[in-house]
Amino acid sequence: MDTHSTIGVAVIGTGRAGMIHAANFVHGVRRCRLVALADSVEQAVLAAGNELGVEDTYTDFRAALRHPHVDAVVIATPTSLHAEIAVAAAEHGKHILCEKPMAITVAECDAMLAATERAGVVLQIGFMRRYSEDFLAAKARIDAGDIGSVVQVKTLTHGPSQPKPWMFNLQHSNGPLAEVNSHDIDTVRWMSGSEFADVYAIAGNYRTPEAQSTHPDFYDQVLLVSRMANGGQGSISGAQGVKVSSGADLDVEIEIAHDLLHDRELLGVLPSEVRSVRANELELVQDARRHQADDIRQRRHLVVRAPRRLGHRRAADLVAPLEHGDAPAAPGEQASGDQAVVATADHQDVGALGHASYGSAPSARAA
Ligand SMILES: NC(=O)c1ccc[n+]([C@@H]2O[C@H](COP(=O)([O-])OP(=O)(O)OC[C@H]3O[C@@H](n4cnc5c(N)ncnc54)[C@H](O)[C@@H]3O)[C@@H](O)[C@H]2O)c1
Repeated sequence: MDTHSTIGVAVIGTGRAGMIHAANFVHGVRRCRLVALADSVEQAVLAAGNELGVEDTYTDFRAALRHPHVDAVVIATPTSLHAEIAVAAAEHGKHILCEKPMAITVAECDAMLAATERAGVVLQIGFMRRYSEDFLAAKARIDAGDIGSVVQVKTLTHGPSQPKPWMFNLQHSNGPLAEVNSHDIDTVRWMSGSEFADVYAIAGNYRTPEAQSTHPDFYDQVLLVSRMANGGQGSISGAQGVKVSSGADLDVEIEIAHDLLHDRELLGVLPSEVRSVRANELELVQDARRHQADDIRQRRHLVVRAPRRLGHRRAADLVAPLEHGDAPAAPGEQASGDQAVVATADHQDVGALGHASYGSAPSARAA
């Protein structure tokens, strides 16, 4: 691609995520121009075109792929369509920014990777944390050895938005672990610097009674713990459709603990009587030493806020790999592992949803 020319973009799927991307391109992503929109629902795509001033709208995504001025596509359809659209886009020589989760199965991810490799096009996945300055700074500190070795990455994402009807169907969405918490799966892998080795999960439907009869395997609350290949640990708390937040429900945090008690610097300031207690009981440190210990603890414990919006920055990064051949920050190769984690969880308690072990709201049970 000519490194000075404009990059023509088509957004496929003009629902919630697609319209955020599309508006980003209209409002100015360097070198990019939104030239086409596609959505299988005619009314939706016409309304989107009207709103954004885009004339070329299609109900068949393949027509957008044939558009002569489209160089790259954003895929923001239900997840079960990501692989089919991405493979077709690659075959038409289009670069791809595909929303997360990458696809439903590992096999679909493999097909996407093979097609993009064959075509020599860039495939990026919509993990906006990979472009967040806070996350990048945290990662840089970890990589610099600044906080010691990472023992545990703990991340919580409780999504406030109501699931779309297609999300209740696990064949289309792969469930909340994929739909909401693929961000967290990616974060645990990224911050721990390791692949998942063992995964344990429990889940239940606590606040979505409307899905229970039609989609008995849908869950809206999930806990996943993992052992990483490098021996570290991960924990993910997930939820979807949290309408009334307690405040903490809407927070997205990552804490990166480390082997505090093996840290000589910290041991040096702890009175001997607290050396044997657990790291999270450091409050026991006597007044004179509290300050010093807090300071060390702070420097060695990271809490990172996750971005909530799909901002300009991520869309703009569609450009960098095309311009200078930079490696994308969230390439498909990394995201494909998420599907294996979800599938593994599915074969545990998450997969047992609909059976007797299926969770329900404790208050409802008591009543
Ligand atoms: N990165 C993030 O934080 C983030 C946030 C929201 C959604 N997403 C992802 O974006 C994707 C879409 O989610 P959403 O919330 O926007 O869903 P949505 O239901 O609001 O939008 C999906 C759109 O795709 C359209 N569509 C369906 N079949 C199509 C087809 N064959 N061709 C073209 N369009 C088709 C639908 O008509 C709809 O307008 C999902 O994979 C979701 O996980 C990511």
